Amino acid sequence: MELNRRTVIAGAAAAGIAATTLGGTAHATGGTAHPTGGRTPVRKPFGTLADGTEVHSWSLSNGGTRLKVLSYGGIVQSLEIPDRHGRYENVSLGFDDLADYVAKSPYFGALIGRFGNRIGKGRFTLDGTAHQIDVNDGENTLHGGSRGFDKRVWDVEPFTKGSDVGLRLYHTSVDGEMGYPGTLRVKVTYTLTRHGDWRIDYEATTDRATVVNLTSHVYWNLAGEDSGSIHGHQLKIAGSRYTPVDSGLIPTGELARVAGTPFDFRRTKTVGEDIRVAHQQLLYGQGFDHNWVLDKGITAAPVPVATLRDPSSGRTMTISTTEPGLQFYSGNFLDGTLVGSGGTVYRQGDALCLETQHFPDSPNKPSFPSTVLRPGQTYRTTTVHSFGR
Ligand code: GLA
Repeated sequence: MELNRRTVIAGAAAAGIAATTLGGTAHATGGTAHPTGGRTPVRKPFGTLADGTEVHSWSLSNGGTRLKVLSYGGIVQSLEIPDRHGRYENVSLGFDDLADYVAKSPYFGALIGRFGNRIGKGRFTLDGTAHQIDVNDGENTLHGGSRGFDKRVWDVEPFTKGSDVGLRLYHTSVDGEMGYPGTLRVKVTYTLTRHGDWRIDYEATTDRATVVNLTSHVYWNLAGEDSGSIHGHQLKIAGSRYTPVDSGLIPTGELARVAGTPFDFRRTKTVGEDIRVAHQQLLYGQGFDHNWVLDKGITAAPVPVATLRDPSSGRTMTISTTEPGLQFYSGNFLDGTLVGSGGTVYRQGDALCLETQHFPDSPNKPSFPSTVLRPGQTYRTTTVHSFGR
């Protein structure tokens, strides 16, 4: 954790320099200058869905970070940060066109709900009632079902507050949508701080007992989205245990120690160092696709839990969260069939995801931290991405 804390401070300092350098120059994203530094987000048409719904893209920048967000899926279409020489790259995989997001996106940049990752056989029992939800990953449910939050058009409201700039995204998921009980009202706030941090605050309420587990599915490549393998990226995760899975990637319920396994990222190592070790868990996932049990547990405020660094560009990202789990997915199912926003083909291992969450299949694992939300309660989690170079 010591290293993490230093990295956050270093990251903030670096972003501060970037902010000064950019001060007074015209941002590519435009917008009205805000007295304390931020700029009003700018909205542009991004296309129309088959049912006639218009989709918009929103551009915002602050503290040296530039973000483009779609009203469709709350998708981060691009996130640009400078390298050690001040050169900007989009470090998040995505597409140029709405049609690609609708037809074939493996959750690029999207908001995930109602339930991040898998629920075994799409079934769970809550207060004695059995629920069958939409099954979309073999016999299991993945990321909410076939029409999860990544495929919904969100209401987007821009804001500037003090030195922060951001977007509030709203979606109401009706009772029974994808088989989940209760009308779920969701608000997700994306904030860019004056240090260039990207902060996500998730909130939800329900009118019937239900389960909720929200996350964000950005595919990171800190060298730039079109620059190939991330196996040289250095990663550190503050988790001494992880949740092993079966062949369908459903947790067995065990909390296994990472010590002496390829899953030990407590000391920084490259993603590629152990990815080819013949460990049964790596065979199941075709690489890393597992939930780390974060040592800090659930916290009221975000705590640093993971640091990612690309030695070639010098770009770093530290993730802090209130959540107890982190899904590290090493882009194993990218198979060379998708052409990304930079015009290049994405292949296996060209990006990685670090999804803060409650543990997969929690509704069927009484020993895991609960994902149940009841009327009168408010679901609240926060994750912060801090960038440095
Ligand atoms: C998550 C899952 C992976 C995969 C990706 C999307 O990270 O854990 O198994 O389904 O989403 O392709």
